[in-house]
Amino acid sequence: MAEFEHLSLSTTGNILTITINRESRLNALNQATLSELKETIQSIYDDKDIRGVILTGAGEKAFVAGADISEFKELNEMNARKFSEEGQEIFALIENCHTPVIAVVNGFALGGGCELAMACHMRVVTSDAKFGQPEVNLGIIPGYGGTQRLTHLIGKGRAFEYMMTGDMIDAETAESWGLANHVAENKTSAIELAMDILQKIEKKAPLAIDFVVDCVNAVYNPGENGYQTEANAFSRCCGTEDFKEGAAAFLEKRPANFKGE
Ligand code: COA
Repeated sequence: MAEFEHLSLSTTGNILTITINRESRLNALNQATLSELKETIQSIYDDKDIRGVILTGAGEKAFVAGADISEFKELNEMNARKFSEEGQEIFALIENCHTPVIAVVNGFALGGGCELAMACHMRVVTSDAKFGQPEVNLGIIPGYGGTQRLTHLIGKGRAFEYMMTGDMIDAETAESWGLANHVAENKTSAIELAMDILQKIEKKAPLAIDFVVDCVNAVYNPGENGYQTEANAFSRCCGTEDFKEGAAAFLEKRPANFKGE
């Protein structure tokens, strides 16, 4: 497994845990961390042995407290588009990854941290988690997809309010609005819950999981007809060995032995 300066990686069975490891900066995303994250996510695309990913922040206080503000002095109108597009590209890699990715949000998920959590397929959060897009306090707006994903997840009126005020959304509210899937008491129980979800998914037919990712993401892809994506994916599923195995196992009253074929 690759060694990184700002990420630690560990595996439990087929589940990879990626921990953003800059606790003294509340795990703020500097460019070096983003590039390590990109390399790690790209490697997951080619690794069929990894069947689920947990993404979390080191320590108890923060998932990620945003992009690293100390690097902002380099930003100007000329280079900021590239800064934004490169971040968007990495977060889209997470969203489109066929391996399920759960953000375990331990504490603050602000700015780029909120955007990173929203790019993951699911969010399991600690009871002290706080989401927010406070960029207006710095004279900017979210640039890693937050204007789009927050609006999709919590709706237009709420997205306007929280992006315009910079206020934070607590865990309970996040859960009631669909921004968080589950609230757990603390980081240990949040990781256990995320692990349970991923281990459950691991038993399902891998190709069906791939297609769920493509079809759900199609909803948010303007210009793509999600119903056609679904019908195509459904027919592809029906051509797989795993479909034959799943149906046979049900009729024979035994657990299915899926192979991803
Ligand atoms: N970028 C760089 N450094 C950051 C950071 C960020 N996004 N967020 C926190 N840090 C650093 C702080 O500068 C501080 O460093 P120091 O110990 O050298 O002073 C350290 O992390 C601890 O943060 P601190 O602000 O002292 O903790 P707190 O408990 O008082 O406040 C927050 C926590 C999250 C409310 C506060 O750190 C904050 O508002 N961070 C910025 C959030 C933000 O605007 N994110 C969007 C960026 S686009």
